[in-house]
Parts: sequence; C-alpha cells; structure tokens
Amino acid sequence: MYTNEQLADMVKPDKVHRAVYVDPGIFDLEMERIYGRVWVYVGHESQIPQAGDYLTSRIGRQDVILVRAADGKPHVLYNRCPHKGAQIVPPGAGHVDRHFRCPYHAWTFRLHGPMLSAPLRAGYEGTAFDPADEAFWLRRVARVASYRGFVFASLAQGGDDLVDFLGGAKAAIDNLCDRSPVGEVEVAGGVFRVWQNSNWKIFYENLHDTMHAAVTHESSVVAARDEYEASMAGRDMPFVLHIMAGNGEPYQFWEKLAVHAFDHGHGYMEGIFDPGGADRDPTSRAHHESLAAAVGEARAREILGMNLHNTIIYGSGSPHTVFQQFRVIRPVAVDRTLVEIVTFRLKGAPEAVFERAVTYANTINSPSSNVMPDDVELYTRVQKGNRLDGGDWVSMHRYCGTDRDIPGGKVAVNGTSELPIRNQFVAWKALMTEGGAGCGGVA
Ligand code: FES
Ligand SMILES: [Fe+2]
Repeated sequence: MYTNEQLADMVKPDKVHRAVYVDPGIFDLEMERIYGRVWVYVGHESQIPQAGDYLTSRIGRQDVILVRAADGKPHVLYNRCPHKGAQIVPPGAGHVDRHFRCPYHAWTFRLHGPMLSAPLRAGYEGTAFDPADEAFWLRRVARVASYRGFVFASLAQGGDDLVDFLGGAKAAIDNLCDRSPVGEVEVAGGVFRVWQNSNWKIFYENLHDTMHAAVTHESSVVAARDEYEASMAGRDMPFVLHIMAGNGEPYQFWEKLAVHAFDHGHGYMEGIFDPGGADRDPTSRAHHESLAAAVGEARAREILGMNLHNTIIYGSGSPHTVFQQFRVIRPVAVDRTLVEIVTFRLKGAPEAVFERAVTYANTINSPSSNVMPDDVELYTRVQKGNRLDGGDWVSMHRYCGTDRDIPGGKVAVNGTSELPIRNQFVAWKALMTEGGAGCGGVA
C-alpha cells in the first residue's frame, strides 16, 4: 500500500514514475480513487429509446445496467441481484417488459431498482426480508446525469456536477450534436471492441501524441501514398487514403496545431482533417447545406468550422466530433484495457455523412485497420518496457513550462508539446492523493 506522499512523489512536473503503468496495487487504487470518484460515460440515450430498454456498461470495476425506466429517464443500476448476487442481465443490450426478473430464483424489480416480489413469500414470514427495504432493491449508482443524450454516472455522492466536470471538453459534445440539423445524434451500427494489452493511461496519452504519427504509422502512410501515386496521381485523394496519409504530415504541420488541456485531465486538439469545409467535396457540401437550412449560413459555418480531433474526457474516453464516434476506454487490469468504439448518426443530416463516419471507423478503428494495430503494438511495447529495471522514469519534458493559460486550462505553444500528458497526471495526482481537490490547473 502506498502513502499519499509516495503516490504524489511519482508525478513530477516533467516526468512520471513507471510504476503507475505496471503496479497492480496502483491500479487497485485508481479503480477506487479515480473511477470511484469521476463521472464516467456509460452510454447514449439513443441506445435505450423505450422504457425497459437496457444496455450493460462499466464504471471502473463495477458492472452496471443503463436502463430507461417508466419515468422516461435513464437510470444506472449495479448488475447484481440482492438475493445471492447473480448478475441480473447478461452483457449487452436488451429489453424487459416493465420489470427485471432475476434468472436464478425469480426475484423481480422495477426498472429503476425497487423490489417488486419474490416467489413463495410465506417462506420469508417472520424474517427481516422486506421488499420496501432498499437492501432488497437493485442498488442505484450514486449519481446519473445526461448531457445532450450522453449519459454519465458517478459512484461518488459528492463532487462537481457533470457540466462543471466536463469543463472545456463540453464544447466537443456540443459541437458533435450541433453538427446535426436538429441538434441530436444517435448511436447507429455496431461496436468495435479492441483489447489492448497495456495500461489504460497509455491510450489517453497517445490521443494527443503528435510526435508518434509519422513514425509509428509509417507503413500505412507509405502504402497510402504509393497507392495514390500508382493509380490516381493528379486526382483528389480519396477519403480513405487521405485519412491514412494524414499521419505522415511533417513535424512542422503538427507543431502548428493547437492543443488544449482542461481541468480534470480533459482536452482536445484542433485542426487535423478538414472535411467540414463547405466546398471540399459532395458529402461536405450536402452536410453544409442541410445544416445551413436549419440554423442559417453563418451558424453552419461556425459549427462545421470547429475542427476538433480526439477530444479527451479523462476516465471516459475520446469522442470525435468531425467523424462522429466515441472511443470508450475501459480499464480491466493494470495491463489490460478494453476500447469500445461506437459511431453516431447526425439526425437530419444526409446519410452520406454517416457513411463517411463508418468509413473513418473502418479505416482507423476496425480490427482490419491498417492504422490502429501500429498504435496497439506500441502500447504493448510501452507496457513491456516499463516492467523492466532499465530506468524508473517516463519523460514528459517536451515544451514543459511553456504553456499558456486559457479559461479552465492551458494551451500548448507548440502542437508537439506533452502538455496533454502532464495535464492528465495533474488530475491523476489530485484524485489519487487529495480526493480530486486541486484538480483544476495544469502544472
Ligand atoms: S440470485 Fe437473484 S433471485 Fe436468487
Ligand atoms: Fe497513432
């Protein structure tokens, strides 16, 4: 067991001790002190449109059920029967009529948790069994809040409300929804699941790691360029090749990007791909026209001109506004992380916009992607390397000490800065040692 002082000593302004990635004891503390405290994304309201619709999800180590109850609201319950502890529903999505029934001994529960009945009640006469007693209900998690259809839950009674917690990252959820002519999105299609044999923090760190792109992804960059030169030189580069080749931009390109870091470990990058330009291609033009018809030309330009890449909501994952997806990051063990990627349809937008998002997911996130396996290989190598006694510290020195203040956070002076990683560890340290107090501010 570590003292708070020992944990605090593991995070310096410009480096972090390798133990935070490989020590199971620290992982246990993270589940309690980080995932037991912050708001965690559990699912989208469009996945549970009717009362009785449910979806299993996870907060740290806790398996939970996101369900729409009779009151029309999303509720989040622990997936545990109070009789003998059986999981009430199997993993996945489903629907129940009016109540949950445990598959073991048929205790039943209202959709928001209270107990309804148990068979052969006479057997409980004279005992402390009481359906009105919350000890016999499906337990609800401490707090649930929905922001524009995105449902988050927290295992902690106290702390910031959801909007304050999201801080600067809220703009990404707003922009994702605002891209729809009716201001709403819905989960559509299936989910990609990716197991990573690495610590959950490594993926968060990589999301804004611009220095790795051209190096780690060299093979797919070269393949995309070769394909273009061989068969279509002189024409517009097709979307898929454009996405793959984008990683190969020179260092000067990444240096000019704006990288924002917000309180609580969140952040986003600005300006990698620009599919929102009104004049770029037929899909973008049609999207722009449908949005302009709903909100006006100026507002449509403003919305589509907000070009964010890989927003980070620390503890939940990474929504992508321009390509309408959410990569949900679930820590499972110190060296095991599950990433689930869902794609959103912009309600009221041309179907081609959704098809483009699916193409992006297939290109970047699918098991057959030419891009993601490069990253996953490097995450595994980082995990393996940090088990060794070849050195104790992980460097995050790039542009340390040069960040500029913005409301609710900092912005890097250079897009290759390791500000986002330092920012994540400010939040990590505050949560692990101070209960999250002092989470604001970036060292
Ligand atoms: S374990 Fe659920 S009814 Fe027995
Ligand atoms: Fe990458």
